[in-house]
Amino acid sequence: MSHLSTPAVVMGIGTGLTKLGFAGNDSPSFIFPTAISTRNTGAASGRPPTAAKPSFLSGPGANSSSSGGNLASKRGTEDLDFFIGQEAIDVSNTPGYGLNYPIRHGQIENWDLMERFWENSIFKYLRCEPEDHYFLLTEPPLNPPENREMTAEIMFETFNCAGLYIAVQAVLALAASWTSSKVQDRSLTGTVIDSGDGVTHVIPVAEGYVIASAIKNIPIAGRDITYFVQSLLRDRNEKDSSLRTAEKIKEEYCYVCPDIVKEFNRFDREPERFQKYLVDQGLGRKVTVDVGYERFLAPEIFFNPEIASSDFLTPLPEVVDTVIQNSPIDVRRGLYKNIVLSGGSTMFRDFGRRLQRDIKHIVDARIHKSEERSGARSGGLDVQVISHKKQRNAVWFGGSLLAQTAEFKGYCHTKKDYDEMGPGIVRQFSLFNVP
Ligand SMILES: Nc1ncnc2c1ncn2[C@@H]1O[C@H](COP(=O)(O)OP(=O)(O)OP(=O)(O)O)[C@@H](O)[C@H]1O
Ligand SMILES: [Mg+2]
Repeated sequence: MSHLSTPAVVMGIGTGLTKLGFAGNDSPSFIFPTAISTRNTGAASGRPPTAAKPSFLSGPGANSSSSGGNLASKRGTEDLDFFIGQEAIDVSNTPGYGLNYPIRHGQIENWDLMERFWENSIFKYLRCEPEDHYFLLTEPPLNPPENREMTAEIMFETFNCAGLYIAVQAVLALAASWTSSKVQDRSLTGTVIDSGDGVTHVIPVAEGYVIASAIKNIPIAGRDITYFVQSLLRDRNEKDSSLRTAEKIKEEYCYVCPDIVKEFNRFDREPERFQKYLVDQGLGRKVTVDVGYERFLAPEIFFNPEIASSDFLTPLPEVVDTVIQNSPIDVRRGLYKNIVLSGGSTMFRDFGRRLQRDIKHIVDARIHKSEERSGARSGGLDVQVISHKKQRNAVWFGGSLLAQTAEFKGYCHTKKDYDEMGPGIVRQFSLFNVP
């Protein structure tokens, strides 16, 4: 098969969840935790070191002790038995296995584990031959160029992939928002709020270029909200306050309210707002957990961070406003008008609505002040927060959109480019010309 006819592979590997699939598809083929469990087998010698490719194509769950002689010998390490995704978490209860998360706060932390993670992603999940495919990988904003080079080295030298494009997650999230009816022109100007499991970024983008100096990170993301729910369950001595239960409650029952004081009162007036969650603990054991104020209090930590932490106190709407104010004046209007949501932790009901209202308040107050000072009236400023159907996996979906275009391969670096010029070529990628 020639790589001219095969779809590009799109890999979006986040702190919490990995999304894998092929360009042109509506959603990823695989979504699983970015976790890897390894076991030291010490049994590398029985295999030919030049095995052409990893030989564990026998499906998920297969024992992968012969994990590609070329890889193991290249690293000069002994053979390792490993699993990724949910399997990694399941097997980690077995003695001798250690569970690791190779990405921290959006960035690759352990390259050796990452290489194995990619290996299993490509051969065991996607089941494709990397030399027949172009790859689109995603990176967080401000990713150091050395990380790109390391990624290219592994992609081209270990996996022999045909071509590679490394895209900034925020730019892909903007492309994904074109599916919203509120977005009229397919512009790559906007403010992206990408909130996943490990980090929340606010990223201004002007015509496809990230305005690096104005980016802000917020140390509140999905995992923190889960911990907060857990702490509330513990305070009430609920029968199950495991992380899994807290996460489930967060994803299914939580929403953003307009006003917490009113919401507390509403709960007292309308007891049906309190819910019961039935947890299946396995082996026929079921327990009921009460779900109460955390329904609206948990996501409130984006808007009133002091309720959960004493280190970080700036509300998200204020951070967004500051990011836009720190961007060049000629793009600010476009940045306020197109505030685009991306990632699992933006999925709370009414998250976008509250954010829009609160940012609008800040902006209007500033305009009002300056009008008072100058005596002149201004035309006002349009603040629009975009929620859309592809928001949950917006980064992956944006990658799928761009990598399916006829032009995509022209923007990639190929294996041949890499062999001729070395890893330094991936420091630059041309921007997509949006069709
Ligand atoms: N419906 C939902 N409501 C609230 N949170 C949700 C919902 N669905 C998923 N999440 C949360 O979203 C997070 C995962 O989001 P996402 O896949 O965007 O993160 P990631 O890309 O793995 O991490 P990061 O972007 O921080 O590197 C998890 O914390 C999950 O609990
Ligand atoms: Mg992410």
